[in-house]
Amino acid sequence: MARSSSSPSGKRWWRSPTGRVVAAAATVAATAAVLVTAPGADAAASTLGAAAAQSGRYFGTAIAAGKLSNSAYTTIAAREFNMVTPENEMKPDATEPNQNQFNFSSGDQIYNWAVSHGAQVRGHTLAWHAQQPGWMQNMGGSSLRSAMINHIQKVMAHYQGKLAYWDVVNEAFNEDGSRRSSNLQSTGNDWIEVAFKTARAADSSTKLCYNDYNIDNWNYGKTQGVYNMVRDFKSRGVPIDCVGLQAHFTGGSSVPSSLQTTISSFAALGVDVALTEVDVTNASTSQYAALTQACMNVARCVGITVWGVRDSDSWRSGESPLLFDGNGNKKSAYNSVLNVLNSGGGTTTTPTTTPTGTTTPTTPTTTPGGGSCTASLSAGQSWSDRYNLNVSVSGSSSWTVTMTVPSPARISATWNINATWPSSQVLVATPNSNGNNWGVTIQHNGNRNWPSVGCSTS
Ligand code: XIL
Repeated sequence: MARSSSSPSGKRWWRSPTGRVVAAAATVAATAAVLVTAPGADAAASTLGAAAAQSGRYFGTAIAAGKLSNSAYTTIAAREFNMVTPENEMKPDATEPNQNQFNFSSGDQIYNWAVSHGAQVRGHTLAWHAQQPGWMQNMGGSSLRSAMINHIQKVMAHYQGKLAYWDVVNEAFNEDGSRRSSNLQSTGNDWIEVAFKTARAADSSTKLCYNDYNIDNWNYGKTQGVYNMVRDFKSRGVPIDCVGLQAHFTGGSSVPSSLQTTISSFAALGVDVALTEVDVTNASTSQYAALTQACMNVARCVGITVWGVRDSDSWRSGESPLLFDGNGNKKSAYNSVLNVLNSGGGTTTTPTTTPTGTTTPTTPTTTPGGGSCTASLSAGQSWSDRYNLNVSVSGSSSWTVTMTVPSPARISATWNINATWPSSQVLVATPNSNGNNWGVTIQHNGNRNWPSVGCSTS
């Protein structure tokens, strides 16, 4: 899928694979409004990339060169994703195995595969304490500073004009917001800005990103440390275009309720924000819905990348954290993400729709344990400030329905269910003793677009 770009009117234009140009910002509100009220008139997109493209965003995955010969893998990757990050193939140990001798064979393989399947590429990564080639690990001082500059210049020259984003610097902070000690840090505290200035001079056509993990929670030292650096860079004119939140909600982390605040706070500094390496322990549907919604709610959150295609491809495969199982089947989390992408974001929808009629906005969801269910919404009574929705679940008596309301709407009441609340916009409903018909009252706060729902069985 080709690039989106800005028009003078501020709309993001998107060229579809067929060459059709659509005005994403202008059409998404209408699309989102129509999705649930008249599904036949303007169908929801059926792949992650296409669904994200409706709001001018991308949906990406990490790709490993060694798997491009696996057709089960490439079939899913080509169908679903319109952004590709090489999982390891553009890291310093891969691209400069011996000093000043470069090897782009695996990186090029991924780049060529991506563009021939309509995807853009995020370069990852130029300066990092990890996955350095052996010769670099033993360096320090001015010789390492020079080697870093040379590495950035040569690698970026090779991909000049080709990549949408580059992670220029990766993981340079400690958990408390101070700088991580490394051989790069020992060359001087200015190494990060030197890296960004070198990168801008090498290729002015690509967006330059800082990327890190554990910077999702706004109330966390590391997040504040990175935020202060970006603010400082912006105030002094150091070139930086984007911040990547890796968003590894594995290894004991989970989606914080402040994620949207973090995204919007970075965006307010004048940088693009992306979720760059998403995985979630056991692919929690509610956490996947919440992180997707947080991105959709911030205009400058440009896209989401999951860190691998199938669970079996994940660097944390033991946590089954991705959207496809090892057999390539869509998991419940896939549907919850797709529904949120299709429902549009709080910033790209307009409060014009009053819920009417009966509809079935979800497709049946099959889980590895077997069984499927469908949650159907129909309009109930409405008032000036709020409305009721009736929900009917079919296909199973043992279901979990995740409902995400578009911000700033909030669910204010429920009936006939057990409810938990991962965030103020997300409800996770399971049956109590009242059967499969239940409901919610939604305070619309100006946004009358219906919520997205996903159903899974246990
Ligand atoms: C991981 C890869 O997925 C693994 O295959 C590799 O062995 C180690 O690196 N943060 C990053 C990514 O920025 O590059 C890491 O990728 C995961 C953590």
